[in-house]
Amino acid sequence: MTELCGIPLAGPVLNGSGTFDAIAARHAFGDAVLERFPFHAFVSKTITLAAREGNPPPRLWETPAGLINSIGLPNKGLEGFLGLDLPELAELPVPLIVSVMGFSLDELATLVRRTGERDEVALIELNVSCPNVETGLVMGADPAETARAVERVRPLTDRPLIVKLTPNANDPAAVARAAEQAGADAVSLINTLKGMALAPRTARPWLGGTTGGVSGPAVRAIALEQVRSVTTVVAIPVIGMGGIATGGHAADFLSAGATCVAVGTENFRDPAAGLRIAAELGEPAAV
Ligand SMILES: Cc1cc2nc3c(=O)[nH]c(=O)nc-3n(C[C@H](O)[C@H](O)[C@H](O)COP(=O)(O)O)c2cc1C
Repeated sequence: MTELCGIPLAGPVLNGSGTFDAIAARHAFGDAVLERFPFHAFVSKTITLAAREGNPPPRLWETPAGLINSIGLPNKGLEGFLGLDLPELAELPVPLIVSVMGFSLDELATLVRRTGERDEVALIELNVSCPNVETGLVMGADPAETARAVERVRPLTDRPLIVKLTPNANDPAAVARAAEQAGADAVSLINTLKGMALAPRTARPWLGGTTGGVSGPAVRAIALEQVRSVTTVVAIPVIGMGGIATGGHAADFLSAGATCVAVGTENFRDPAAGLRIAAELGEPAAV
């Protein structure tokens, strides 16, 4: 049994946002997905206020032991999510964490207020790896920007707030501390590291978004160090992720002080990875 911000979970294994589509999985595999759900809590793909198409293809590049993605947050937008996806996600047998991203503090405030008033939503994750159009700064790269974002939305909901930290910051531990002081209930890390690939022959950027985010086993050692450095400076729970593919990797993040772990890129290789990792950790299945 694990507790995350007062929410009881059957175990500590979550998914990384955007790496497991529970609705598509249920359509493909039927209710078997609900009967053997791979995670102890489910994190939605990040939603934005307006619907987005995402980046032009190609969107993925395989690196040695990793992946670079420039998906670009395609999503139905807040109204589409609340009307179409939330009723389906509410049928999952585990607590639901909704991931939101705003390109301004007003957008973020609307997303938090509207998702937080829905009973189906247990926790809200703030994906702050994006530029604030008002300042041009990446919210999560700067402690003061992160604090401003959390302070703005904290009074708008009684749901626990998780701040998802970016590894593309000078000092992720300082950002984590700023988030905690501003009222965050937990932090999660790491999001993807900025990277790029050149197309063979043309030497032009391969990805439609020019650059992308590196994930998978290639980032695990970096993630583990960042998780350890964050857990030593905050008292709130930490959700650790980055390249976790086995129970042993997950155990390392828990030993580094994480309360929960999340599985990301490994879900694309093995959609049942969450079940396997929970079993290897000696944790019960989610249901
Ligand atoms: C294809 C893909 C899409 C992702 N989409 C999101 C997203 O929508 N929101 C988010 O916060 N993180 C997103 N991530 C980042 C993951 O949740 C995770 O933080 C990161 O990939 C590191 O974990 P991993 O190495 O186990 O994949 C995405 C990662 C991948 C590979």
